Amino acid sequence: MSDPTSIQPNADTGSGADRGQVAASAAEIYEAFFLPALFDQWVGPVLDAAGVMEGDQLLDIGCGTGAVAREALTRVGADGRVVGLDPNDGMLAVARRTRGVEWRTGAAEDLPFEDLTFDVAVSQFAMMFFTDREQAVREMNRVLQPKGRVVIATWASLSDTPGYAAVVDLLDRLLGRDACDALRAPYNMGDKGELGDLLTTEFSNVRVTQVEGTARFDSIEDWVHTDIRGWTLSDMSDEDYNRLLAAAKTELTQFTAQSGKVSFPAPALIAVGGGH
Ligand SMILES: C[S@@+](CC[C@H](N)C(=O)[O-])C[C@H]1O[C@@H](n2cnc3c(N)ncnc32)[C@H](O)[C@@H]1O
Repeated sequence: MSDPTSIQPNADTGSGADRGQVAASAAEIYEAFFLPALFDQWVGPVLDAAGVMEGDQLLDIGCGTGAVAREALTRVGADGRVVGLDPNDGMLAVARRTRGVEWRTGAAEDLPFEDLTFDVAVSQFAMMFFTDREQAVREMNRVLQPKGRVVIATWASLSDTPGYAAVVDLLDRLLGRDACDALRAPYNMGDKGELGDLLTTEFSNVRVTQVEGTARFDSIEDWVHTDIRGWTLSDMSDEDYNRLLAAAKTELTQFTAQSGKVSFPAPALIAVGGGH
């Protein structure tokens, strides 16, 4: 197994796309633009699926800037505990603005916790980037109580997400394979059966459901800005960025309303399992 704790952000190199590693500036844009456009809408369904209750000890794996952990804190109350874990310093720097959650640097494959520590483990749109998913699932089970609950959210397939299928195609034609792979990577766990089989290696009563969601951006400019400057392609040159934006304005109009606002289906898989 490669050392998952050695994952580095892509501040200068542009690497780390398939590991979901962003630069510090991108983490700020992720928080301000990506969360409202795409991620915030899943926080409630993920925590509902996990049946989070007052007093729960909850671990959010791949917490990013902390969308799930922040809301979990309000649900577990004063007697509960929420820990947010992520390998990316830029993401955690934003997350640390919220007090009350314990923010930890680390990777899913090597959780820095004792056995049987948590009642609930959740991971929202992070598992696609893990270096060793089987090991991560073993680790989740190890740190959970016998009656613990796990909830994993991944994106459904790219073919069910027309806006991103179009962006990936546009990036491929304009800027080549590496650029398009950066936005294809989040869609590499869209198969319900595969996700269910993976969790069944460690958990019981596993159920995987595809749930409808919607991506919403104020404009095409806003969409391109978020996807490029708020994720792993954030060091794209201004020249390439402007070429992409010009093409997006002519080729992605099918996703815009008269007002110029963008929306398209963005479904997710939500997998639920029980411990041991
Ligand atoms: C798309 S973000 C999701 C963040 C957050 N859960 C949310 O819903 O906004 C994916 C996160 O997975 C993290 N990640 C990547 N590899 C990881 C690993 N091996 N273990 C834990 N987290 C990882 C990234 O650093 C990134 O913060």
